Amino acid sequence: MASTGPNTSSCTIGAPGSSATTTVTDLAASREFYVDVLGLTVTEEDDETIYLRSLEEFIHHNLVLRKGPVAAVAAFSYRVRTPEDLDRAVAFYRELGCRVERREDGFVKGIGDSVRVEDPLGFPYEFFYAVEHVERLAWRYDLHTPGALVRLDHFNQVTPDVPKAVRHYQDLGFRVTEDIQDADGVVYAAWMRRKPTVHDTATTGGDGPRMHHVAFATHEKHNILAICDKLGALRRSDAIERGPGRHGVSGNPVVPSWYTDASLVLDLDGNPQPVVARTDASEMAVTIGADGFSYTRKDDTEEYKLGNQL
Ligand SMILES: [Fe+2]
Repeated sequence: MASTGPNTSSCTIGAPGSSATTTVTDLAASREFYVDVLGLTVTEEDDETIYLRSLEEFIHHNLVLRKGPVAAVAAFSYRVRTPEDLDRAVAFYRELGCRVERREDGFVKGIGDSVRVEDPLGFPYEFFYAVEHVERLAWRYDLHTPGALVRLDHFNQVTPDVPKAVRHYQDLGFRVTEDIQDADGVVYAAWMRRKPTVHDTATTGGDGPRMHHVAFATHEKHNILAICDKLGALRRSDAIERGPGRHGVSGNPVVPSWYTDASLVLDLDGNPQPVVARTDASEMAVTIGADGFSYTRKDDTEEYKLGNQL
């Protein structure tokens, strides 16, 4: 394992709300998928950028799509609890030797004073407090379709050294809720929360820094079935990687692409961060009880292995 680096200070940052800014190569195709298919609401848009929000979001946006030369993440954004937390974030990342930028008017519309950093793992993180509030959609029943997305739930970040990532995000105030590790102590993935939800972000062991997914929550399970029905009816079922079903730590197979496929992340100049290969074992190659790519029965070595796909 690599060492944790010079994390001599800690910084407690709240995360009552979050958003993601991504670049996309085809803005019209992205709009069609996120607005027409998934039903996110457009707060504001122009020829370059679309600001979207889910049904329970009451700030300007929780997903920004911006036209760019490569599909990538420009910022994983967290709202902090007080304006002073932004000063703490600047001091925290400067002490770590990270690149830090602050803009009083924000980097995107709808958000005020903001801090963007390239964190020690290479991920672009953003912190903000002041926001523009927009119409609450709670009573806009015309928008409440069976597959409604209600809030941005969490990020999934792919990084070669999960324990190093966990130590860094713990210094930032996150707590680990679950992880996957084998009998030798190799950690394959960890889930972390800053507020009392299941998790706000996850780090998965693989070549990184990259982003595997940004997750939105629905009210109920049946809403997910409705999304699958809609994708099927639109002949877009190839947009479903797996499921519907449980995944991950709760005794069920994880999602294979966690360890293989992911999107690039950008530095503060908008250039893709170089990807570093993972040298620790991959969960794809091992069997870890019920949590990983295991066989149904403990001593089986043939037939169907969980995590495989038909
Ligand atoms: Fe996830």
